[in-house]
This record gives sequence, structure tokens and C-alpha cells, in this order.
Amino acid sequence: MPIVLEDVSFTYGIGTPFETAALRGIDLRIADGEFVGVMGHTGCGKSTLLQLMAGLLAPERGKVMIDGADINAKGYPLASLRQRLSVIFQYPESQLFETTVGKDVAFSLKHSELSAREIQEKVRRALESVGFSFDAIRGLSPLGLSGGEKRRVAIAGALVTQPRILILDEPVAGLDPVGREDFLKLISGLNRNGVTILMVSHNADVLGDCAERLLVLDQGRLMMDGPVRAEFSDVEKLEKLRLGVCRPRKIAHLLKERGVPFPPDIVRYEDLLEAVIKGRRSGTAS
Ligand SMILES: Nc1ncnc2c1ncn2[C@@H]1O[C@H](COP(=O)(O)OP(=O)(O)O)[C@@H](O)[C@H]1O
Ligand SMILES: [Mg+2]
Repeated sequence: MPIVLEDVSFTYGIGTPFETAALRGIDLRIADGEFVGVMGHTGCGKSTLLQLMAGLLAPERGKVMIDGADINAKGYPLASLRQRLSVIFQYPESQLFETTVGKDVAFSLKHSELSAREIQEKVRRALESVGFSFDAIRGLSPLGLSGGEKRRVAIAGALVTQPRILILDEPVAGLDPVGREDFLKLISGLNRNGVTILMVSHNADVLGDCAERLLVLDQGRLMMDGPVRAEFSDVEKLEKLRLGVCRPRKIAHLLKERGVPFPPDIVRYEDLLEAVIKGRRSGTAS
């Protein structure tokens, strides 16, 4: 299900004193199975972009197409898109509201034509995919869970339809380091199984770790779009936009400034380690 945006603009509160242009002239094509990170300052339009892609907002100008169809055209089956595309908003745990975990995770299958047994199997699979024992957790109230557990339940609720596209808005905000690592493993695993991932994060380390492609927004415009390795190699450009790069890249950059020649495409810790080991063997760092 490729996602295509053609010259998309969006303004909030048109004609009111609060009119805010959130996105301007965005052209974008995301192919099946990509892992795309989205970075930029607060207010640059990241959440608006995700909501447009999910059909939760309609563009003021331009088109959003999924699988070749304009999702804002009259008669477009948005309900069926909801089964193929899931969105996980910031702090998704705040949206848990059913009396039990099992019911909460099953929520988006409520109006499906599946049998109770099929629904139960899907809920089981979703809860197990986020590391829960189905039998132990299904009957519990979401309210009694820890913050990290609630987040995992909310994610299971987004995965229960087995979406082909997963859109995530700041999904690691507020998670502890272990929770964050588990979460990123889960998302990367889904991507390896072919799920297209679009993930907004403030955190360059998180994006450097798992995204292949990076979009950088600034004041509603798409400023950068390319492979993470290429974009993070341009430390100066990102710093001009007052954005950081991931730590391994930053370390390599600082070492280079001190005269140690590191390759420019280091984004992950393994890259850094390999360059150091190679450098020690050959007597220099590259
Ligand atoms: N519901 C809204 N009503 C009015 N303005 C909004 C609304 N949501 C966002 N905005 C404004 O639109 C711009 C883009 O916001 P947003 O997409 O939330 O950015 P980000 O997710 O990058 O922080 C900001 O200037 C923000 O203040
Ligand atoms: Mg946002």
C-alpha cells in the first residue's frame, strides 16, 4: 500500500484569528515496507502530517493517496482503511477505556464479521506480540496496570487488525530505557515482516537506530528526505535547523573534528565499534 502525498497543504482555523498554516506543499511517496522516521521541532507539522496520512484530517490543498486511491474522495471506504492502517498517538494509554484488557484490545474488531473465536485468537496474538501472557492479562482492568504495561496494551490494540501500515506519533515518549528498547525491537520486527512504519520522534538516537529513511520538517515544509545515513552525515545542515544527530554519528563527527578520520555514514553503535576496531587494527581510525 504505497502512500503518496501530492502538493499537500493544511491550515488550522481557516478564516479565524487563529489561522495557522501547519503544512505547505508536501510531496512524498512511501513504498511498501519502508521504515520512515519523521523529525522536526514542536509545531513543525509532524502530527498534522500523520493525521493526513491516516485520513483523520483532509488536506486543504493537494491529495493523499493510498494504494492509488484518493482517501478523501467521496465514497472512499475509510472504514476498510482503518483495518489496514493503524495509528498510535502520543501517550496511547490515555485512550484505554474498556473494563478489561481483552475487551480493550478487541475494540477495533467489534464491528468486523469475525466470529468470537476468531476475535479471541487475534487478541491473543496481539497481546502475545507485545510480551503478555494472554490468559494472565485478558481479564484484568487496564486501570490497574503500570504505565509501561498500559502502553503495551494500547499498542496491542493497534496491532490487532494486523495492519500493513503503522503510524506512530512519539511512541517512546515517557518510556524507560528498557521499555524503549523492547518497543523498538517490536516495531523493527514488524517492519521486517513487511509492515510499513512511519514514526515521529524527537529522539535522533531512536530514529538512527531503526529508521531507514528520514523526513525532516521545518515550519510545515519538508526540508530533508533521504536515507538516514546520508542525512545524519550532514551534521552542519541539521544543526542549522537546530536539530541533533544520533549519538554515534555525533561522536564520529567530534572525533573527525579532532583529526581522527571516521567514515561519514556512521549512525549506529555497531558502525562506530566497527570503525574503531578497524582503525586500531590499521593504526588509524578509518
Ligand atoms: N487543533 C489545532 N488547532 C489549531 N492549530 C493547531 C492544531 N493542532 C496543531 N496546530 C498548530 O499547527 C502547527 C503544527 O502542529 P503539529 O502538527 O501538532 O506539529 P508537531 O506535531 O510537529 O508538534 C503548530 O503551529 C500548531 O500550533
Ligand atoms: Mg506532534
